This record gives sequence, structure tokens and C-alpha cells, in this order.
Amino acid sequence: MSWDTVTLDFDGDVATLTVNRPDAMNALNVETLEAMGEALDEAEAEGARALVITGAGDKAFIAGADISHMRELSTTEAQAYSELGHRVFDAIESFPAPVIAAVNGYAFGGGCEVALACDLRVASERAVIGQPEIDLGLVPGWGGTQRLPRLVGDEHARRLIFFGERVDASDAYELGLVGEVVAHDQLDGHVADMAAELAAKPKHAMRVAKEALNAVHEEPQQAGLAFERRAWSGLFGTHDQREGAAAFLEKRDPDFE
Ligand code: HXC
Repeated sequence: MSWDTVTLDFDGDVATLTVNRPDAMNALNVETLEAMGEALDEAEAEGARALVITGAGDKAFIAGADISHMRELSTTEAQAYSELGHRVFDAIESFPAPVIAAVNGYAFGGGCEVALACDLRVASERAVIGQPEIDLGLVPGWGGTQRLPRLVGDEHARRLIFFGERVDASDAYELGLVGEVVAHDQLDGHVADMAAELAAKPKHAMRVAKEALNAVHEEPQQAGLAFERRAWSGLFGTHDQREGAAAFLEKRDPDFE
């Protein structure tokens, strides 16, 4: 499926959402955010078992919010723009299957925040990542102040947000901001392989694993541990749980649902 600035492609159970505004470095205007929201709904409705998010063209993943749109916003309009992005990024975070950001180039501001909302981040060696909002007289407005410190720790997040520093792929890896760096021309293939591998895992257990890991950030630890206890025992009696154990003991490959 495609919208003017977003495409959604399927390869088996793997969906790929591509932000497609390369002339504007894939900056997220209202239309693009709305299309992303619809594409996420569509991917979920089609039963995607893994989702890849990337940017069109060979320079940018997503260069952030659309600065030309932001320029003249009133406070009320700015609030609506922030809330729209929050809804879309929350939908990425709660997407019921793993989401991988294939960071193929510049990922600034809202682009970094899209990557932060994903489960996993793989960077091309050409990626440059940062939260430069401070130099626009702003702060991150689509989750960066909350998700960045949870991912990289408070000290690194403060440095990135206070200095507005843009880090290259290897520094992003050192900070834990991305999990892996690969050669630019291998990014798509590598992420496709990862996504296919994740899509072949037991669907229900994968969804519960994601919910439990998301609970780390949403619940105090005791509530999170209680969630894990319930989720763990709740998987017992499912086909995949029985099949996984049986296949291991019978020394054969599992046939998951
Ligand atoms: C709108 C953008 C844009 C953006 C680039 N463009 N980034 N348009 N919003 N975020 C446009 C440029 O105006 C230009 O348009 C075209 O894309 C190519 O960009 P250039 O700057 O000419 O390319 P280059 O020299 O290669 O530099 C690329 C770049 C730079 C390093 C990515 O464009 C850049 O620094 N962009 C801004 C990044 C940024 O500050 N992002 C944070 C935004 S704030 P024309 O028409 O001239 O060809 C944010 C807040 C989120 O994200 C929270 C919101 C609630």
C-alpha cells in the first residue's frame, strides 16, 4: 500500500514502512505522520510478524519534524503536532510484533525519536544520529526526553540533548543508541534477514515478550515482575509452548502455530 509520503510493503510476514519524502530528508510533516499511523494499523491488520521502518533515498532515515511546518505554529498547533507524533510513536512501541529501525542515514530530532520507539535499531555506517532541538530553541517533543535516557542512560542523554550533538554510527553504537552497525549497502539485506528470523518465532510468545519488556519502562519493578509472572504462566497450555518443549525433547524442529 502507499500514501503520498509513506509506503508499506510486505514480504511474507515482514512489513516494511518507508518514509518517502527524500527531497525533504524524510522530515515528518502532519500528512506523513498521519500516513504512518494508517500504515501501522494496516500492518497490524495484515498480521505482520515483524516490521521494519526506514527512510527513502540514500541520505536520510528521517531528519526530524518538518521545520518549515514548525516555523509558524501557535502553542495550540504545536501541542496538536506533538500529540499526533506521540500517538504514532506510541503505536510503534506497542505494535504487537518486533519493530526494527533500519537507520540508513540522518536521524535527527523526531527521526531519532522514531528509532527510539522501535524495539531494535540497526545503523548503516553512514548514519548520523542526534537530538539537535536545543539549537532550534526547543527540546525533543516526540518522546526523546523519556526514551533516550532509558536507552542510553541519563548522563549520555543529557549530553546528547544539552549539546545537541550529532553522533556518527560508531559513536552511537558505543553509547548503546544502536545495537549494530553494518555496511551501508548491506543494511537492507541484514535487517530483512533479522526481521524474517523474528517473524518465524512463536507469535504469541514474541508478543508477550515485547509487552513484558515494555513494562520495564511503564511500571515500577514490582508491578513489572508481577506482569512477568502472569505472562509467563499464561503461556502454558498454548500450542507453541507445548510444541517447543516437545520438539526439543524429541530432537526435531518445532512446528509453531
Ligand atoms: C524540513 C528539512 C529538514 C527538516 C532537511 N530539510 N531537514 N525540511 N524539516 N527537519 C530539507 C532542507 O530544507 C532542504 O530543502 C532539503 O531537505 C535538503 O536538506 P539540506 O540541508 O540541503 O541537505 P544537507 O546539506 O545534506 O543536510 C542534511 C541535514 C540538514 C544534515 C539532515 O538538512 C539538517 O540538519 N536538517 C535539520 C535537522 C534537524 O534539526 N532536525 C530536528 C528537527 S526538530 P530544500 O528545499 O532547500 O532543498 C524535531 C522536533 C521533534 O525533530 C518534535 C516535534 C514535536
